Amino acid sequence: MLKPVNFYQQLASKMNANPQGKDPAPISVLSLNPSLDMTYEVSSLLEDQKAHALATRYDPGGNGINVGRALKRLDTLAHNYCVIAGEIGQLLHRLLGHHLDAVQVEEVAGETRINGTVLERESRVQYEVSGIGPPVPDSQLQTLLDLFTERSHFGFGVLTGSLQKGLSSHLYAELVEKIHAGGGRAVVDAHDEVLRHAVEAGPFLIKPNRHELETLLGQELASIEDVATQARKLQRRGVTYVCVSLGAEGALLTGPDNTHLATAPDVPVDSTVGSGDSLVAGMLAAFAHNSPAEKALCQGVACGAGTVQQAGTELFDSAQLPDLLARVGLRQLDI
Ligand SMILES: Nc1ncnc2c1ncn2[C@@H]1O[C@H](COP(=O)(O)OP(=O)(O)OP(=O)(O)O)[C@@H](O)[C@H]1O
Ligand SMILES: [Mg+2]
Repeated sequence: MLKPVNFYQQLASKMNANPQGKDPAPISVLSLNPSLDMTYEVSSLLEDQKAHALATRYDPGGNGINVGRALKRLDTLAHNYCVIAGEIGQLLHRLLGHHLDAVQVEEVAGETRINGTVLERESRVQYEVSGIGPPVPDSQLQTLLDLFTERSHFGFGVLTGSLQKGLSSHLYAELVEKIHAGGGRAVVDAHDEVLRHAVEAGPFLIKPNRHELETLLGQELASIEDVATQARKLQRRGVTYVCVSLGAEGALLTGPDNTHLATAPDVPVDSTVGSGDSLVAGMLAAFAHNSPAEKALCQGVACGAGTVQQAGTELFDSAQLPDLLARVGLRQLDI
């Protein structure tokens, strides 16, 4: 069942709120396997004993949802296309209303997955279980994908996260081709075979982390220069921008004109969940406003650094971004 949303109305009101009159390119985000994230904080987990929660949280989760949430914090409108299922899906849908601007759902049979996290306060150890999402029937998948790709033709289409079992590892590659054929720009944050196929389709931007890039290439990359050299090779194969995230070291971005390395500010780390999604959203918000690539990279790194300071799945606090941005180091690499 599709929930109608007046996307144009929302877009128009957002643009009216932009006094410079510079319309950002619209962003569409696909979430085929979102989750309800349930977090319990306990003192400690003991075998065969009941642990009493000290705090509980319910958050909407999944990479696409995180990117959408981060974009909203950056005051950048995103249109989110999500699969939901069952009672958990209904709860997720209601929660999404608080976290996202425009949401279009395709409701399938089964139940939306619940991802569970237990945080042990004493040890500061975190246990995570990722749930299994519902299968998406072909016809319903096609309905959602058609809406998503059509909207992406006007700007950016974001393809992020792993695909549930049963979906082809070529799916993101096919979507990249469709988005670009219609004049849009595809952004891919995926790994393994899904990323490998997507690269061949020549997306606008990919964002592997260092490990994902090493897996893609089948080789270890010892230095930042090695990472940059390989990013450049990938870029020459037809990817407009290759961003490789480097955790605490920041991220580098190789594009048609140059390569930049942005070093992350030294910040206290609480939970790194969502840091990659925040980096993607930060860059994308800047690209959507036609900012230069190095500015996009710095904004992304600041967003990532903001997110690692937050507990659980919580994302960056946008009020902290100017300070974080001022502490991001930027240098051009001769690659
Ligand atoms: N320890 C840290 N200190 C400061 N910033 C960090 C730290 N770890 C990550 N970041 C920020 O978050 C960004 C993304 O981090 P990372 O390279 O770990 O992405 P990822 O592996 O894709 O993350 P995810 O687990 O969300 O998929 C980095 O580029 C950096 O800006
Ligand atoms: Mg990642």
